[in-house]
Amino acid sequence: MREVLEQIKERAISELSKLEDLKSLKEFKVKFLGKKGEVTQLVKRLKEVAPEERPVIGRLINEIKQLLESRIAEKEKELKELEKQRRFEKERIDVTLPGRFPAFGLKHPIVQVMEEVVDVFRSMGFQVAEGPEIEEDYYNFEALNIPPDHPARDMQDTFYVSDRVLLRTHTSPVQIRVMKKYPLPIRIIAPGRVYRRDFDVSHTPMFHQVEGLLVDEGVTFAELKGTLQEFARRIFGEETKVRFRPSFFPFTEPSAEMDIGCVICGGEGCRVCKGTGWLEILGCGMVDPEVFKSVGYDTEKVTGYAFGLGVERIAMLKFGIDDIRLFFENDLRFLSQFV
Ligand code: DAH
Repeated sequence: MREVLEQIKERAISELSKLEDLKSLKEFKVKFLGKKGEVTQLVKRLKEVAPEERPVIGRLINEIKQLLESRIAEKEKELKELEKQRRFEKERIDVTLPGRFPAFGLKHPIVQVMEEVVDVFRSMGFQVAEGPEIEEDYYNFEALNIPPDHPARDMQDTFYVSDRVLLRTHTSPVQIRVMKKYPLPIRIIAPGRVYRRDFDVSHTPMFHQVEGLLVDEGVTFAELKGTLQEFARRIFGEETKVRFRPSFFPFTEPSAEMDIGCVICGGEGCRVCKGTGWLEILGCGMVDPEVFKSVGYDTEKVTGYAFGLGVERIAMLKFGIDDIRLFFENDLRFLSQFV
């Protein structure tokens, strides 16, 4: 019996020393000291021992029990500390590491330029107006004095939804909607998306325009020129030169196009300005009386000017971009340059 005791004690101590976590320590405790544990079982075997030896063996069993209990307690402390260290190691944070920057979104370059254009005109007293992108033929063409046989009405150029409904091909229909809705004087700009069946280095099927309209009594072409010249200087710089060339639009008479001195070569002549030193940036003119008639104005009294510009074109010139399609490919390497 003594030998059995000795063996159990030695085995227990050696097993205990090999334990590495609290879970196996718990199992160890059950195995030796639990109700059916090896040491506990020994007590039941006391009756096999000669009566005179029983007190001695009993004491020995108790000693083993106490020894194991205290060793287990020590081991528990040790393992708890060890597990804490392991957890710390796992959760370790290096506070000296540089932070990771969150990816901030930014405004699309077209939106940036459009807002800049809108801000310039707002500072001159224009109010922002909007109209639908799905528009009626009447507002997009008819009321703007664009006759039924005009090439812009061709299926080749216009996206039709039905005979009478289409995707607006310009922001000019907003002029008609505003004049029908609000009293004079009118001073608005209408930024927005427009659609045409076109796709190459300088055309995309959807693009952006900003329309301007000023209507009152006694409005002059000189005011139109002054306003647009100021606009060009605010967008392209104080030194920007402008010139007006006669042109034609069905909804203005007289009509003009405004050029700015080439922003690439400074007027010397280059590939972008095709050697002329000038870049066309917008169309404009005095509102044609035919347009006033369609909104019921007295054409003897009412006068006004209008203009329209393409936002993509302005953005391309401002940023030196030679392919309009880059704006719509959503390549972050391109877009993230416009901070
Ligand atoms: N709507 C014209 C276009 O899309 C641009 C334009 C030219 C608008 C002259 C105007 C204007 O208001 O007066 O090409």
